[in-house]
Amino acid sequence: MRLPDLAEKPTYVNRMFARIAPTYDLMNRLMTFGQDQRWRRMLLDLCNLPPHGRLLDVGTGTGDIAASALSRYPNLRSVGADFTYEMMAVGKQRADTQSLPFVQADTLALPFADNTFDAVVSGFLIRNVVDRVAAFREQARVAKPGGRVLCLETAPPDNALLAPLFRLYFFRVAPLVGALISGDRQAYTYLPHSTVDFPSPSALQRVMEAAGLHHVVYHELMLGAVAIHVGTKLDAPSD
Ligand SMILES: C[S@@+](CC[C@H](N)C(=O)[O-])C[C@H]1O[C@@H](n2cnc3c(N)ncnc32)[C@H](O)[C@@H]1O
Repeated sequence: MRLPDLAEKPTYVNRMFARIAPTYDLMNRLMTFGQDQRWRRMLLDLCNLPPHGRLLDVGTGTGDIAASALSRYPNLRSVGADFTYEMMAVGKQRADTQSLPFVQADTLALPFADNTFDAVVSGFLIRNVVDRVAAFREQARVAKPGGRVLCLETAPPDNALLAPLFRLYFFRVAPLVGALISGDRQAYTYLPHSTVDFPSPSALQRVMEAAGLHHVVYHELMLGAVAIHVGTKLDAPSD
């Protein structure tokens, strides 16, 4: 399979998610054996949201993380942003997103003022983005001083025993199941390639630090196949 080059990638990614939007949620549950919902809950646990806080979910897709946050914190003001209209259109049909505002936006140029959100989260977004440092810098810009930027992502398998199993699953099983459920084998062939080419958790930690985030830590899940990174935007220095 020929992967898109950097110039082609945003259009490629946008069209791919538009095509698989109707079956996206079902595929997620199947491919992760239902674990994806648990990871999103852990992500929210790490947000440190205050009562009546504000949350931005970037690359929200069908709104899974933002909606789960709303059902957990009824006083939260949560927003979902994504550049693929079709994903959000599927999300708007869900019963749990009726009070969730969806905003069409590129994560590299978010239409929000500086220092707006208590936490900015993303789930499985960053591997699709052409400039990761710029994406985290933009997320940090809209986070409040003292607020958090969190990233839930797959990680390249580095365990010598498990790596062959993960590769078999990602490169053989997932494209087959994806082809059966979504009718789009190409999209679910892109997925393993984007995972293997993705930085290790420690390298992604450095990417977040390069974007100006502080105290960046990560938590590995599912035997290292998934990681949650948490960074903090420092308080503005006082004069
Ligand atoms: C794998 S889906 C994840 C959806 C959701 N966050 C979840 O946890 O299931 C990735 C989403 O990121 C969006 N996306 C990719 N690149 C983007 C960008 N540059 N700006 C905004 N959204 C983007 C895609 O449209 C897609 O909906």
